[in-house]
Amino acid sequence: MRVLSGIQPTGQLHIGNYLGAIKQWIELQQENECIFFITDLHAITLPRDPKTFQKEILNTAVEYLATGLDPEKSIIFVQSQVKEHTELCWLLNTITPAAELFRMTQYKDKSQQFKKNINAGLLDYPVLQAADILLYQTDIVPVGKDQLQHLELSRIIARKFNNRFGETFKIPKAYVSKTGAKIMSLENPKKKMSKSIPSSCLFLFDEPKEIKKKIMSATTDSQKIIKYDPKKKPGISNLLTIYSLFSNKSIKDLEKKFKGKNYAEFKKSLAQLLILKLEPFRRKKKELLSREVYVQEILNKGEKRARSIAQSTITDVRQKMGLA
Ligand code: TYM
Repeated sequence: MRVLSGIQPTGQLHIGNYLGAIKQWIELQQENECIFFITDLHAITLPRDPKTFQKEILNTAVEYLATGLDPEKSIIFVQSQVKEHTELCWLLNTITPAAELFRMTQYKDKSQQFKKNINAGLLDYPVLQAADILLYQTDIVPVGKDQLQHLELSRIIARKFNNRFGETFKIPKAYVSKTGAKIMSLENPKKKMSKSIPSSCLFLFDEPKEIKKKIMSATTDSQKIIKYDPKKKPGISNLLTIYSLFSNKSIKDLEKKFKGKNYAEFKKSLAQLLILKLEPFRRKKKELLSREVYVQEILNKGEKRARSIAQSTITDVRQKMGLA
């Protein structure tokens, strides 16, 4: 199967990105043809500093590799380097109903949040995402829950194109893990952990001191029982989910293990677990940061491999639309 996914280079990766997406990427790359890219064109729908943007992109590449993406197994590249993404985006724009774009939750949220910068790119964002996916005849797209609406739109656009111009695109399927698809904020567990609110995040490369501080001060409810109940006890339920996914222990087993213990004891144990489990990521990142040329070579190679697949789809699309 062909697997594809991407992340925006807008700051460090957090445990939500890891548990919701990257953990699945790493499992899938063992047996599938995988394409993972850095979505710099999506990132510029909000203002970025051009002086530091290249550094941020490279940092995301380093973090991809540090978490275990293997350039021998997967194609890894930067979206803007393969121009077919923007070309297909434009072509798909001409068959995408604008009304579908206005009802996207992410568009509504972002245009509320950034009232002074509601640019057309923010609205068109999901069409570029559809282009990313359809360009590679993708079978499955491993993502967190927040991306499901965009995925559904990609399927709508693919079907619409196929109906109008004849079979061209594979219809992609979302791949969402049962737990971990929506990791909540540490300070407000009713909201999603999000890079745009750094204080909500535990970053994958945080130092032990930081991990301890963030976990010990994570918001929990006033009842002191360690029990999974996302509606009534969202804080402790989120921490139990994180504990379970990093320890491979079931939530039921964890409830038993911590029966009669207080929140501080539970949090201390979780912090220790995370310090241990995230250590290899921190070590690998430090090592890769001093090997910029090597990382750049991986991106260049990935770009070439991606382009050759993308070009064959674009040639077909142009012909089908009467542009060639
Ligand atoms: P982005 O950069 O916001 O997020 C990257 C991935 O991390 C997942 N994620 C989470 N999962 C669980 N809990 C959370 N709190 C959490 N926060 C983020 C996201 O669901 C995503 O899988 N539009 C995309 C990037 C993109 C893309 C694509 C993805 C562009 N083109 C094509 C797949 C296929 C985005 O902004 O992801």
